[in-house]
Amino acid sequence: MADLGVEIPGLSMANPLMLASGIQGGNAAALHRVASSGAGGLVSKSIGPVPREMYPGPVCVEAMDSVILNAMGLPNPGADKFAEVVRGEEFAKPMLVSIFGGDAEGYVEVAEKMADAGASCLELNLSCPHAKPGSRSLIIGQQPELIREVVAAVRAAVDIPIYAKLSPNTTNIVVEAEAALSAGADGLALINTVSAIEVDPFAGRPIIGNLLCGMSGPAIRPIAQRKVAEISLAMLRGELPNVPILAMGGIMTGLDVARFIMLGASAVQIGSALIWDDVDVFQGIADELSSFMEQNGYDDLASMRGIALDSLEGLS
Ligand SMILES: Cc1cc2nc3c(=O)[nH]c(=O)nc-3n(C[C@H](O)[C@H](O)[C@H](O)COP(=O)(O)O)c2cc1C
Repeated sequence: MADLGVEIPGLSMANPLMLASGIQGGNAAALHRVASSGAGGLVSKSIGPVPREMYPGPVCVEAMDSVILNAMGLPNPGADKFAEVVRGEEFAKPMLVSIFGGDAEGYVEVAEKMADAGASCLELNLSCPHAKPGSRSLIIGQQPELIREVVAAVRAAVDIPIYAKLSPNTTNIVVEAEAALSAGADGLALINTVSAIEVDPFAGRPIIGNLLCGMSGPAIRPIAQRKVAEISLAMLRGELPNVPILAMGGIMTGLDVARFIMLGASAVQIGSALIWDDVDVFQGIADELSSFMEQNGYDDLASMRGIALDSLEGLS
């Protein structure tokens, strides 16, 4: 049997398959359901300082076969309520708690509440609008100086490992990765959704209630692989420290997981697949990954990690 185990800061997992933030991770019951599946780990819904309602609908649609569009509006129970979940529940799998804040103080407030409640690691969702008045469209994750400010503030406030979740909607993702890592992040998570609009021709306006939305699902998988490759190559060149990458974007099968591991990822996250299927996808994907590794002579994830980068190195 291939060894699928993963040991990275804050996460000791039997396999590299994690739930992605925002899908089924907003309350204890949903998290327990995923924890009892074949998933190796959990990521909570992104938790903010105060409770938030969803944007007006539609908030999530299947726009075509392999495309999910969403603008949920970061609905969440708020830090105090979710701290009770972190404090009171014993999940069968390790959980990365995803947080957001609007500005550095907001992130710190949530980070401290989660750490005090016993969270073992945090994912900073940087694809969140900056709270500065008049700057609704200014996404923190698109501004390296804001990334640095937020990550440094959270780093100074808590001792647990921090993963910075990056947006693909920038010119050169290595710049944002560098900002996060130089400010003290222990690892990276990528990618968040790809910026999108889809018009409903009958309504003569965008289909999603918020008008602007993010795209996920298998159609973004090659984009996500490109972003992971760019970061891994920068690590190989010594431009970024070598830290664990949690990769995501359109993963549906065991072969998809292998693609990201071969580009240097340590583990993966799975989101949109759970919109089409139930939590038993995790076991199916784990079994496929394990058979692929056995058939191709990979004993563990380390023997497969980064092998696709050899052919890309000359490009840098
Ligand atoms: C309905 C929905 C809600 C999401 N909510 C969040 C969220 O709260 N925080 C976050 O960091 N990412 C959120 N995401 C992004 C996913 O975590 C993931 O980065 C993205 O969907 C790509 O992976 P996938 O193609 O497997 O879905 C959401 C995605 C979807 C489809």
